[in-house]
Amino acid sequence: MLSRHPSATGGVNQGPFLVDVAVVGAGPVGLSIAWRCAQRGLRVVVHDPAPGSGASHVAAGMLSPVAEAYFGEHELTALLADSAARWPAFAAELAEAAGADVGYRTDGTLVVGLTADDLAEARRLWAYQQGLGLPITPLRPSALRDREPALAPRVRGGAVAPGDHQVDPRRLVPALRAAAERAGAALHPAPVARLSDLDARVTVVAAGCGAAALTGLPVRSVKGQVLRLRAPGRGAPGFRHVIRGYADGESIYLVPRDSGEVVVGATVEERADTEVTAGAVLRLLRAAVDLVPELAEYDLVEASAGLRPGTPDNAPVIGSLPGRPGVLVATGHHRHGIVLTPVTADLVTELIVTGEPDPLLAPFTPDRFVPEEERRWN
Ligand code: GLY
Repeated sequence: MLSRHPSATGGVNQGPFLVDVAVVGAGPVGLSIAWRCAQRGLRVVVHDPAPGSGASHVAAGMLSPVAEAYFGEHELTALLADSAARWPAFAAELAEAAGADVGYRTDGTLVVGLTADDLAEARRLWAYQQGLGLPITPLRPSALRDREPALAPRVRGGAVAPGDHQVDPRRLVPALRAAAERAGAALHPAPVARLSDLDARVTVVAAGCGAAALTGLPVRSVKGQVLRLRAPGRGAPGFRHVIRGYADGESIYLVPRDSGEVVVGATVEERADTEVTAGAVLRLLRAAVDLVPELAEYDLVEASAGLRPGTPDNAPVIGSLPGRPGVLVATGHHRHGIVLTPVTADLVTELIVTGEPDPLLAPFTPDRFVPEEERRWN
């Protein structure tokens, strides 16, 4: 059952409590923690006035441990790879538990460059990723077009990341909610103003950008504008891979779904509003059509904006909150919330159950953002 090791959970509150675990936030991370904890026999309540309405509602659902391995992010890259490796079993177990398809597809990802300059930029990153031993393989232009004939003839070159996949976040969240509830977790559709209002032995703050107000951690909002297109005639899109493209200096991705939807994303803006701007729509559409011309014939069905929870080092913050006994956080997933969902859920649940933090979490603990004088228990 629950650990009473103060070292792991920042101390343990005195009981008795209404529940073992209160999760604040019903996005993919919060719901999957609730599901895993309920599977372990813990009494769990998830608090959220609008489940699944945060960043995951806008997210494309790319599972990209390789194409999103960036310079200087070794520890994050290792966590992404670990979590991506959990996805096949996680998706299968979830589909079974929820009785629902979550849109997990394993067609791989193509990373392409439109111009010679775009290709030079892409090649530099592939060389770095290959240097880490990650699976990404440059392709001859003919091989690229054999894989994906819908690419524009102008596309200068590309590479395949065969292990970078996708899931549909708008199917994932309802499935996680169903699985969590079937396992015994309860959903309480009300906001949480103060953590001290919760009657739980352990509280997990998985509230995305909302974690800043609840915990004082430096979590900032990073705006992303995203489009949703639909193939004409309700058919499937004319390409199957996720396509990540550099196009005249813009960096975009195209995520095709079986339903005919294509998600086009995304801006990365250091701002906290969710307005959709004409300029962003123009840039995303221009880059998308430059890479895959047939997209000009698709319906534009949605333009939306979401807020990614970013931290000062853009890595997640997962673990015990210093100075707050019984409070854990799982947020700051920034551009990687969907891919990091399984590993976050598993490791937070292990921390709650055993009291021992997994070594994988060491680079991501909240204490890196908490001044020494605030780390003592209240
Ligand atoms: N991971 C994609 C994005 O945040 O736009």
